[in-house]
Amino acid sequence: MSDFLEIKQISKKFQPDKEVEVVALRDITLEIEQGEFVVLSGPSGSGKTTLLNIIGGLDDASSGEVKLSGQMLTGLSENSLSSIRREHIGFIFQAYNLIPVLTARENIEYVMKLQGRSQQECNDRSLEVAKKLGIETLINKLPNQLSGGQQQRVAVARAVAPTPKLILADEPTANLDSKTAASLMDMMQKLNEDEGVTIIFSSHDPMVIGKARHSIILKDGEVIANERHS
Ligand SMILES: Nc1ncnc2c1ncn2[C@@H]1O[C@H](COP(=O)(O)OP(=O)(O)OP(=O)(O)O)[C@@H](O)[C@H]1O
Ligand SMILES: [Mg+2]
Repeated sequence: MSDFLEIKQISKKFQPDKEVEVVALRDITLEIEQGEFVVLSGPSGSGKTTLLNIIGGLDDASSGEVKLSGQMLTGLSENSLSSIRREHIGFIFQAYNLIPVLTARENIEYVMKLQGRSQQECNDRSLEVAKKLGIETLINKLPNQLSGGQQQRVAVARAVAPTPKLILADEPTANLDSKTAASLMDMMQKLNEDEGVTIIFSSHDPMVIGKARHSIILKDGEVIANERHS
């Protein structure tokens, strides 16, 4: 039994008051252990984004519970959720979502600053993470001066720098060519191993899916496979 991330009987209905309600998730129960490298796959519309958003407290479930390290996230106020996100959860999105007016380094340090860390600590940590991801020569550039693959590495650095327990990544390689995608996944895997951060990502790409050691497949809002392999 893991007490790291517990997802219990999560259901999500969109437009419940309208005539055509959409059931995006049905009764999802999953356990994720600390340090796992997990993939969510399944056809378009199967509920991957919805589930990641609910795990990260970006969206509410219609019913069910999410617990992170024993703490119930479901039903918390927006204030409490945003503080849990800031301290414990990193996000990586398909479209990178870097702040365009900040340099790579400022993007990487943004959440650390919100956490109240000193400038020295932010500098040291952003440089450490940038080195691990091979982007230390790019940190003074603005996002629009970087390629897609470079921007996504900055986004990965930004997610991992504040030392979250959990990183959620929704199709992080969807906009990358296959070589860049493979290299990004190798880096995420290395961060997972080196820093022990639990990573859950979604993907459609068999090569990317194959990197994970815990594979969860959704279909029509239900878990149809849930397997761990070494
Ligand atoms: N805000 C919304 N309002 C209404 N329906 C929604 C909303 N967001 C998602 N849905 C519906 O919920 C279901 C699950 O969507 P979701 O985006 O989670 O799928 P997905 O697996 O991430 O798909 P993709 O691979 O295309 O990203 C779909 O039927 C979708 O149309
Ligand atoms: Mg999606």
